Amino acid sequence: MKLSVLVLSTSLSASAHPDFSLAGFARNNPLGATTGGAGGETVTVTTLAALKSAIADTTPRTIYLTGNFTLTERLSIGPNKSVIGTGPGANILANGFNIKSVSNVIIRNLGIRGITGNDGITIQNSTRVWIDHNEFESGGFPANGPDAYDGQCDIIRASDWITVSWNYFHDHWKSSLVGNGDALRDVDHNHLHVTYHHNYWRNEGTRGPAGRFGHQHVYNNLYEDFLFQAIHSRSDNQVLVEGNVFRGDTREALSTYGLVIPDDSPNTSPDGDYELDGFANLGAKIEYEAAADLLVENDWGPASINITRVGNFTEAPYKYALTALGDVEKTVKASAGLGKI
Ligand SMILES: *[C@@H]1O[C@H](CO)[C@@H](O)[C@H](O)[C@H]1NC(C)=O
Ligand SMILES: *[C@@H]1O[C@H](CO)[C@@H](O)[C@H](O)[C@H]1NC(C)=O
Ligand SMILES: *[C@@H]1O[C@H](CO)[C@@H](O)[C@H](O)[C@H]1NC(C)=O
Ligand SMILES: *[C@@H]1O[C@H](CO)[C@@H](O)[C@H](O)[C@H]1NC(C)=O
Ligand SMILES: *[C@@H]1O[C@H](CO)[C@@H](O)[C@H](O)[C@H]1NC(C)=O
Repeated sequence: MKLSVLVLSTSLSASAHPDFSLAGFARNNPLGATTGGAGGETVTVTTLAALKSAIADTTPRTIYLTGNFTLTERLSIGPNKSVIGTGPGANILANGFNIKSVSNVIIRNLGIRGITGNDGITIQNSTRVWIDHNEFESGGFPANGPDAYDGQCDIIRASDWITVSWNYFHDHWKSSLVGNGDALRDVDHNHLHVTYHHNYWRNEGTRGPAGRFGHQHVYNNLYEDFLFQAIHSRSDNQVLVEGNVFRGDTREALSTYGLVIPDDSPNTSPDGDYELDGFANLGAKIEYEAAADLLVENDWGPASINITRVGNFTEAPYKYALTALGDVEKTVKASAGLGKI
């Protein structure tokens, strides 16, 4: 019995939903739980000008967004902010957000769509960030390759203590890169602690997530047609992978082989780029007093896995609630994305 894990059997009534409160590294970390704008003023914005002004400073603030916001340039979010779409969600179009050299930011219930030539959200040199219940999409796989769009939520340059939960990522090539260069070992080493849980990835290409130099805890995510390679751990990165479910067409669910595959970065060597391998650990089977043991195993479906190095990230350093494997598909489909919080 692994004491840090509470396994939930999620038989949901029509009105109930799973626990949506913050879990993982954005909650349990040496700097303190991520609170965003809590304790500050609350404003509702409906125009781009009002949004720009509300997110810019360092004062704690909760900013509710109503409607569509077509960004004319990337916007940087200041520290101590909660940026939350109202009702069925607000849309961020054309350009995305930077969370750069700040701490304590929450983003929830936003549709982040069709961001060209850059990431939907870039988290750079920042700590304590919670990305929750958003939808990211760009309409599919452009004929001119994976770089027509960039990442959906990339986490780079020594960022740390981040949770990415209950998001719906779909119709996009490169989803979530953690650490954006193998030459950045000295910058990134011992940072990039990210928890990914209960995300729904559908019709995506690569990076669900792909990590270098850090630690990512990847649990209870649903992958449907994640075509080329889902979880990639390279350049001495460590992943702990528990209770995830793969459905549909996926070539490789998990790899620690250092090769950056041509389907991910076709503009470099046609054979791919070689980096050092990463590490992976899979969840253990939890022995439970109740009738049957509960499995934290993953359901890989028809996808392959290639674990070349088993690491020492065997247990998450916090309490979290695992959804039983047989309930993951139903629970994640019902509760990820917009209009749920
Ligand atoms: C963020 O808020 C905290 C208090 O919650 C405050 O100590 C800190 O100075 C704020 N950060 C900035 C950059 O203003
Ligand atoms: C808002 O954006 C969504 C997504 O792109 C679009 O479907 C919708 O038509 C837009 N609404 C308005 C009022 O422009
Ligand atoms: C990282 O962010 C901190 C503020 O948290 C800042 O002092 C520092 O200069 C930033 N470093 C880089 C390389 O941007
Ligand atoms: C798995 O990793 C090994 C290196 O340890 C490599 O030789 C092999 O080609 C990899 N398999 C796939 C399908 O990439
Ligand atoms: C875990 O493994 C990494 C890679 O081999 C190593 O650098 C690190 O020191 C190990 N950590 C512990 C606590 O043993």
